[in-house]
Amino acid sequence: MRIRELNVNEEPPIDLLLLADPSRKLIEEYLNRGKCYIAENNKEITGVYVLLPTRPETVELVNIAVPENEQGKGIGKQLLMDAIQQSKVKGYKTIEVGTGNSSLGQLALYQKCGFRITSVDSDFFIRHYDEKIFENGIWCRDMIRLAQNLN
Ligand code: COA
Repeated sequence: MRIRELNVNEEPPIDLLLLADPSRKLIEEYLNRGKCYIAENNKEITGVYVLLPTRPETVELVNIAVPENEQGKGIGKQLLMDAIQQSKVKGYKTIEVGTGNSSLGQLALYQKCGFRITSVDSDFFIRHYDEKIFENGIWCRDMIRLAQNLN
């Protein structure tokens, strides 16, 4: 498996990006301003992530996704480690990520890779999404913000 930046002439894997974020509008916005990376295995896309510069010296991982039939094999962790490494190489001091209060697997993954919880953006998903989101039997309302220093 190889992870590389998407070329400007290539179409981003929108169906995969929609797995992590149900809002096509938000996805299109951050694709315009950020950088999209894909994991490939024999020309097949096995993962994606998007890094978006936010504040000075800070970058946010705004999307990370692995196709359902490829999940649980360690690809998500490899993508996350690559995103951290890329951010370091590009000279950012902090990488941030946000996830739903109901995204228990994602909260586990981020913390296993060194992220610490910094704050909670209460009612984020109620303000920004039309449909109610449920995961693991939990109503997804709040965004848990996590960050990691890149020294
Ligand atoms: N409790 C504890 N650990 C958990 C867990 C849980 N409920 N769910 C997952 N994990 C751990 C795994 O055990 C693994 O850690 P390990 O290597 O120490 O065992 C780690 O999290 C990730 O496993 P991995 O196989 O690398 O993840 P993946 O390839 O399935 O990718 C996602 C993870 C989140 C990218 C993938 O599930 C996905 O695309 N989900 C849909 C999109 C999405 O929700 N994106 C994130 C939006 S915030």
